[in-house]
Amino acid sequence: MSYFRNNIERMSGYTPGEQPKDGIYIKLNTNENPYPPSPGVLAAIKEAVNEGLRLYPDPIASAARIKIAEILGTQPGRVMAGNGSDDLLSIIVRSFAGPGDKVVFPYPSYMLYKTLAELQDSVACAVDFTEDYTLPDDFIVKGAKVTFLANPNSPSGTMISPDAISKIASEIDGVLVVDEAYADFANDNCLSLVEQHDNVLILRTLSKSYSLAGIRLGFCIAQESLIQGLMKVKDSYNVDRLSIAAVIAALDDQISMKSHVEKIRETRRYLTKSLEDMGFSVYPSQTNFVLARCMKGVSALSLYQTLKARKILVRYFGLRRLDDCLRITIGTREEIEILLKHLRELASTTHSKTVHTCNHQTRIRRP
Ligand SMILES: Cc1ncc(COP(=O)(O)O)c(C=O)c1O
Repeated sequence: MSYFRNNIERMSGYTPGEQPKDGIYIKLNTNENPYPPSPGVLAAIKEAVNEGLRLYPDPIASAARIKIAEILGTQPGRVMAGNGSDDLLSIIVRSFAGPGDKVVFPYPSYMLYKTLAELQDSVACAVDFTEDYTLPDDFIVKGAKVTFLANPNSPSGTMISPDAISKIASEIDGVLVVDEAYADFANDNCLSLVEQHDNVLILRTLSKSYSLAGIRLGFCIAQESLIQGLMKVKDSYNVDRLSIAAVIAALDDQISMKSHVEKIRETRRYLTKSLEDMGFSVYPSQTNFVLARCMKGVSALSLYQTLKARKILVRYFGLRRLDDCLRITIGTREEIEILLKHLRELASTTHSKTVHTCNHQTRIRRP
């Protein structure tokens, strides 16, 4: 006999990317930033490590909200902080979707959306992206309570224009969550849609562009009525004292964030070109990773496994539309040079071997 609710029994749960314990890997699998956080952040955290930790943090993280609002040019009342954007995604689904309600997201995208819908016993509606990762005409699902859009998208790295997203916001029934975890690496963003639409929520995180995945700090920007409702659902103290100190210092150092982002964009261009020269197809990325489709006859799974054995971790998803692809986080230029050296060697040897042995398997996997 199980003590769990039926929907929890049925679901498999979210599987995060591997976090190896020994740390000797070149780690290009979970879209972390290869550069260190701002020195100001480390100093602010050290300063916050004092006997004040005896006390609970500010429940609504006021100082963080003021700083976020200042940097984004909005008002603190339109901002809510969370324990990473994953916390905010969970608060949003719990706020708007119950058993039997429709929760919509494109496929392939961030897999957590499906898990969160299943936790609520909601109906998870995955709508396939087109082949080139634009949104299909049937993306809008009538009566949906929550529609998610990671923009730029993971794992494709591709981006939908703010105009197209604004049109969706006007046409859907429920709320539209634009998950902008990677917006700082992109040419555009949807922040201004919050002014125009009372059903749009924008999510940002310090995990990627600010090199603070270990701190767990995300924020949501939306009109005040939505923020006030979400405040009722969150845990009382969902952002701790050290994270509040960190976010203020991180946002104060825009120069360091922007210079790291610029280096990553530069390395992204280099990696994309080098992979294409080798024969991979690379989706146009607006993020800190690229999705590379292997050339015919090369198995993405065996590339992933061999790279791992050589202490280089990239992400392989054994899922429909992704099982011939590798998602590679942009590391430092040196890390990417090492990856490329191994890939050049492996792609040529694997290619010559699998062309003879795996031709049939490769053919049926491709449309
Ligand atoms: C699209 C997307 N949204 C949200 C997150 C989670 O971010 P956080 O670390 O702020 O929880 C990720 C993490 O990789 C992501 O890819």
